[in-house]
This record gives sequence, C-alpha cells and structure tokens, in this order.
Amino acid sequence: MVLLYKSDPERGARWKELFAQHAPDIEFRQWPEVGDPNEIRYLLAWLPPENLMQRLPSLEVLFATSAGVDQFDVASLPAELPVVRMLDPAIESGMIEYATFATLWLHRRMGDYVRQQRERRWQAHMLVPAVHRSVGVLGLGQLGSAIATHLAAYGFAVSGWARSPRQVPGVACHHGEEALDSFLSLSDILICVLPLTDATRGVLNKALFERLPEGAGLINIGRGEHLVDHDLTQALEDGYLSAAVLDVLSEEPPADDHPFWRDERILLTPHVAAMTQPDSAFPVLLDNLRRYQRGEPMIGRVDGKRGY
Ligand code: GLV
Repeated sequence: MVLLYKSDPERGARWKELFAQHAPDIEFRQWPEVGDPNEIRYLLAWLPPENLMQRLPSLEVLFATSAGVDQFDVASLPAELPVVRMLDPAIESGMIEYATFATLWLHRRMGDYVRQQRERRWQAHMLVPAVHRSVGVLGLGQLGSAIATHLAAYGFAVSGWARSPRQVPGVACHHGEEALDSFLSLSDILICVLPLTDATRGVLNKALFERLPEGAGLINIGRGEHLVDHDLTQALEDGYLSAAVLDVLSEEPPADDHPFWRDERILLTPHVAAMTQPDSAFPVLLDNLRRYQRGEPMIGRVDGKRGY
C-alpha cells in the first residue's frame, strides 16, 4: 500500500516520520520519487500532477493537503475517484486566528494608525464599540462557522450567509440568493471564506461592494479568484470600501506592478492564514485511510457536483 505525497517538501519529512511510526503498513513516498507509479494507491497533494490518472493508474483516493480543493479541477477527474478535503484542526485554528486579527485590524483602524505613525501624526479616531460593528461571514461551512462563533465572543454583531440554511449559535444566519442583500447591508466588515466554484468566482465585485454599508472593510481568506481586483481598487477610490485585508490573490505572488502592492488601504499577506500541520493533520488523514480500507465513508469527502 503506497501513498505518494506531493506538497511542501519540508513538511514532507515530518509526514514520513509519522507514517513510519504510526502506520508502517502504508509506504510513504515523496514526489518526485514516485517509484513504480502502478503501486500508488493514495495521493496526498496540494497540486496534483498533470494527467493524474494516466500517471497514477492505480490511484484509489485523492487527499488534499488543503481545506480548499478548487486547484484540483474536480470536474475533470473520474467521478468514481474519491476526493477528500483536509480537515486539519490546525487549519481551523489558523483561520480563526487570522480572521480575528484582520477583523480587529479593520475594526481598530490599524491601517490608519500605521500610516499616521509614518507621518508622525498623533491623532485618535473615535472608538466604535464591537457591539456597534457588524461583521458578516460569507460562507458558513466548518471554517466560516468557527470564525463567526469566535468573533461573536468579542461582542461583534455577527451574521453569516450560506447557500443553504445553517444554524450557528450567536450568529444571525442568512441563506440563499434572496437573503444576500439584507446580509450585505449588515456587514461593516465582510469576511469571505467561501469555497471557490464556478458560482462563487468573482463574487467580490463592484455590485456586491455597492450593497455593503458605506466605507465597509473587506477580508478575503477564501481564494484570490473570488475577488475582482480592479473592482476593489475602484471601490476604495469611490469610498464604497475603506480598507481591505487580503491573504489570497488570483495570482500568487502578484506581478511587480500589481496596484495592491502599493495601496496603503490594503494589507496583503502571502497566503498564510492557515497551514496544514502534519502533527495535527496526520490523525485526520489516517482515520480516513482506515475508514476507506474498512469500506466506511470518509470525512470531508468532496461532492463532485458542488465542487466542495
Ligand atoms: C489553503 O488555502 C487551504 O485551502 O487549506
């Protein structure tokens, strides 16, 4: 039984140790040392190799090292090949941490204070109590729900939106296209944590920004392709938005001349909100491998039609 790992090589060394220690019946190979490709039953990957099924003809399960699986182009894979997202608790805590940081950054106007310091300007801005700041979480899956719950504990007025009905204690949950307007009008700070699908690509666009309260803040920790870059720049110019925190971009890294690099209203980070940690992800993966071997359903299996 061979598992091929194709992701960050540094963390690969730790994955290898964990397999050797806790699952010696599964041979761990690290890309590009594939060996005999016919022996590979499981692939654990961030980016799969091209022509996946031709290259790994005996592949039985594709495990993502990430929570998002949009990079796999699930529609092009054989329908019977199970694709499984990574539900590492470290991803959830990383996303909570980053969303909290970014919300507080916007809520407390840290971008303005960083600028003022540079200009040696000592000027206080009125403090808005958290209870008067509404935060909207776009996407209420496992990660969005966890983020919304944590932000509610800070006292923010938190609402969330999902395609289908959700219930998250302490969070005003909205669902469906018809509820989007009222949800957006309640989002002084909007956090995008949607999966990337054909239905959500480009959702952070001019029309959406215009439905937010004037001067709203935007946080994107979903995928770069959710955002129409030019529309963000324009919305900042026009005052529909006041600031943004972006951890993901459609091109990573962005080109040298991308306007976001030098826009002081935007805080950019290089896709670091959350990272899979082998030590906490290994038990999750091994549980799924054993489930698969016993013929039981795996946790985090992607619905090929929905794309997440
Ligand atoms: C990272 O972006 C992930 O999807 O886990």
